[in-house]
Amino acid sequence: MNATAIVLAAGEGTRMKSNHAKVSHQILGKPMIRWVVDATIAAGCERVVVVVGSHADEVRAILADAYADSPVSVETVEQTERLGTGHAVRVALEATGISDGPVVVLNGDLPLIQADTVRLFAETVATGELAATVLTMTPPDPFGYGRIQLDADGAVERIIEQKDCTPEQDAELLECNAGCYAFDGALLAAHIGEVTNDNAQAEYYLPDMLEILKRHGHAVSIFHCEDYRDGLGVNSRVQLAELTAIARDRINERLMTEGVTFIDPAQAWIGPDATIGRDTVVWPQTHLIGTCSVGESCQLGPNTRLTNTRAGNGCVIDETIAVDAVLENDVECGPRAYLRPGTHMLDGSKAGTHVEIKKSTIGEGSKVPHLSYIGDTTMGAGVNVGAGSITCNYDGKNKHATVIGDRTFIGSDTMMVAPVRIGSDAITGAGGTITKDVPDGALALERTDQRVLEGYTERRRARL
Ligand code: UD1
Ligand code: CA
Repeated sequence: MNATAIVLAAGEGTRMKSNHAKVSHQILGKPMIRWVVDATIAAGCERVVVVVGSHADEVRAILADAYADSPVSVETVEQTERLGTGHAVRVALEATGISDGPVVVLNGDLPLIQADTVRLFAETVATGELAATVLTMTPPDPFGYGRIQLDADGAVERIIEQKDCTPEQDAELLECNAGCYAFDGALLAAHIGEVTNDNAQAEYYLPDMLEILKRHGHAVSIFHCEDYRDGLGVNSRVQLAELTAIARDRINERLMTEGVTFIDPAQAWIGPDATIGRDTVVWPQTHLIGTCSVGESCQLGPNTRLTNTRAGNGCVIDETIAVDAVLENDVECGPRAYLRPGTHMLDGSKAGTHVEIKKSTIGEGSKVPHLSYIGDTTMGAGVNVGAGSITCNYDGKNKHATVIGDRTFIGSDTMMVAPVRIGSDAITGAGGTITKDVPDGALALERTDQRVLEGYTERRRARL
């Protein structure tokens, strides 16, 4: 599809009362602008132009981070003065020179728009019969939206902004402009300059294009959204929370139809780019952020947050925070495990209670059950790390590596001062500070001999 998408994201977002760009606010861990851009890419748009302005650098950084490797070009155009949505589109057309093909324009605060709708929309203007189509919806509360005024034949006459509505229009016109439009690119470019700012807000309104195109004898049409929720916009924090709840419910309902159990679907926040396999049980207060995948028959949560983390099948992930981690199959984590970037837990391994792991591989069946910090470590298979054992990987300046072989038993409260290598089938005695390499099969003991003073307590009491 040779359609271009123009996403409007330059506005001040005043009603958010925020120090950040409105479109940078997240829904289920993903900035709003990415929901919209992703929908245009999934719809097959060949080129995506995002109009930035207020907090432009912040929005550019989000886009650069997300779409650096995207096969679809996502470019930005700066609208230095925010004179309205019509002005934003004019700036985009002038900067890019786009003047033909279907052009889909979307508000950047329209996160629940579906890719299918965008695709269908672009197609409505592809044949040349229609000059423009606008997506409409009838939400329970139309306040704040532009209202669709129809003519006597039931065709769209014009769109009246909330602030330009008379009380009668406000009460009677319940069909709203969702802020997604398709235009014949040539006609859009030819007439965008005719939009004026003669209205309550003294802004150049993009919706006025419908009236303008009609005046030139072109056909325009509305496309009513069956599910009004697809067309809801975010102007305030209240709406941000409402749309988050809708997005959450939609995702959780889809996952349930795919065979995932939710103990309470209202208390699980699974991002749009996460997958969960069948027979996995999601306990309350679970968050999956970014690109996550969890396999089949896992127990997820309660109180768990995974970010860009992959888990295989049969994992038990209880009260765990994991970031950029990989868990293979049958891995057990928590309660209260913290798996930091670069953690790789191999099959059947365990990171137990109050255990923090960073940039380390925990070998097959190896267990770190209690109160440990393991960093910059390569651990073999079948290792048991006793309670309270720690890798001392940082000398205040540099990080150093610890290597532990297979089947080794790390006694409780062992300090492994890196760089250090502990071989296979070795044992470290409890409480040892291991500063030298331990060969395969050896016992390393590092402790002073215990003194026993018989009858001491009685003597001490007599003294006091
Ligand atoms: C707009 C529509 C309204 C529609 C509603 C749907 C106009 C005039 N009104 O109203 O009919 O019902 O969306 O949610 O278009 N923006 C710019 N540059 C600007 C102004 C805005 O890029 O100069 C961007 C904003 O960042 C935002 C989008 O355009 O993402 C819409 O602007 P907003 O102020 O939210 O418009 P609404 O009042 O919601
Ligand atoms: Ca809006």
